[in-house]
Amino acid sequence: MKIPGNGAAGPALLLCLCAAALWSCQKTAPAQADQGRGIILGFSQIGAESAWRTCNSRSVQEAAAGAGIQLLFSNAEQKQENQIRALRSFIAYQVDVIAFVPIVADGWDNVLQEAKDAGIPVLVTDRKISVKDESLYAGFIGTDSVEEGRNAGRFLLEKFRDRLGGAEPVRIVEISGTVGSSPEVGRAQGFREVLAPYPQFQIVYSESGDFLRSKGYELMRDILDTRTDMDVIFSHNDGMVLGILDAVKERGLKPGVDVVIVTIDAEQAAIDALIRGEINCVVECNPNQGPEIMELALVLARGEKIERLIHVDERVFYEEEDLSALGPRGY
Ligand code: AHR
Repeated sequence: MKIPGNGAAGPALLLCLCAAALWSCQKTAPAQADQGRGIILGFSQIGAESAWRTCNSRSVQEAAAGAGIQLLFSNAEQKQENQIRALRSFIAYQVDVIAFVPIVADGWDNVLQEAKDAGIPVLVTDRKISVKDESLYAGFIGTDSVEEGRNAGRFLLEKFRDRLGGAEPVRIVEISGTVGSSPEVGRAQGFREVLAPYPQFQIVYSESGDFLRSKGYELMRDILDTRTDMDVIFSHNDGMVLGILDAVKERGLKPGVDVVIVTIDAEQAAIDALIRGEINCVVECNPNQGPEIMELALVLARGEKIERLIHVDERVFYEEEDLSALGPRGY
């Protein structure tokens, strides 16, 4: 029986799990698993908060289908409790491997202990976790959020090199991601680390927009009601920056000219805005993690170890760069 991967939550997952329950009674021998057939992977996704996330889900689903892996895909609709429930369902159905994107870093110890007790290896993907016992999961594959934040900071050092050592401040408004998520923590950390030696870079305001376009818009609209004393807006993702651009333009300001805009993800819409001159720098966050996740899942299903930490490749896109040869981003 083939269990289709899908992006639906709740009932769809339940259906998949029931099918898997029947199927798992006849689970195949390790030799068959070696060929990528007969493996069940339980995957808990955060939700569909951005084009980036939708692409990440698609990458997982397509790669699973390509590898012949039975995927139980659960959409947590932005709630950690839904993710924990999904992980428990995967354990109950004795999947071969669990992979998940943790919405926040903390709060996973108990459910991961349950997975460990059940002998099910766990792969953490995209976002990192913080647990007391590192042996609770097999490894991590995903993006390097700290480096992404550093890249955003490095661009500002270059952009404002004329002001380095001078008295004129560079005032930064930061719109950050979901509070307590590893990209929110890492991007803020890397950004500050690079700018810390230069006191003229001042983060004059910082607030979370939860990685959502609607919140990016609302926050920036409200901020611009009370202040325009900013030289830079640093957005932790493209979804929020698209809302920010709308709010900035509504005020009659020119984004990219009146205020420098730096963002992370490299969705097509952000690259298009970069080319139009409305964004000054886009740091890539690579969502196409599916193929590597499947390779690692196969290794784990064979009972073998994987590297503890794998970061996917990423680059930076700058203003004035010739991007005419850049292919469609796919997200
Ligand atoms: O975890 C990666 C982040 O999550 C991406 O930057 C963002 O778009 C998504 O919501």
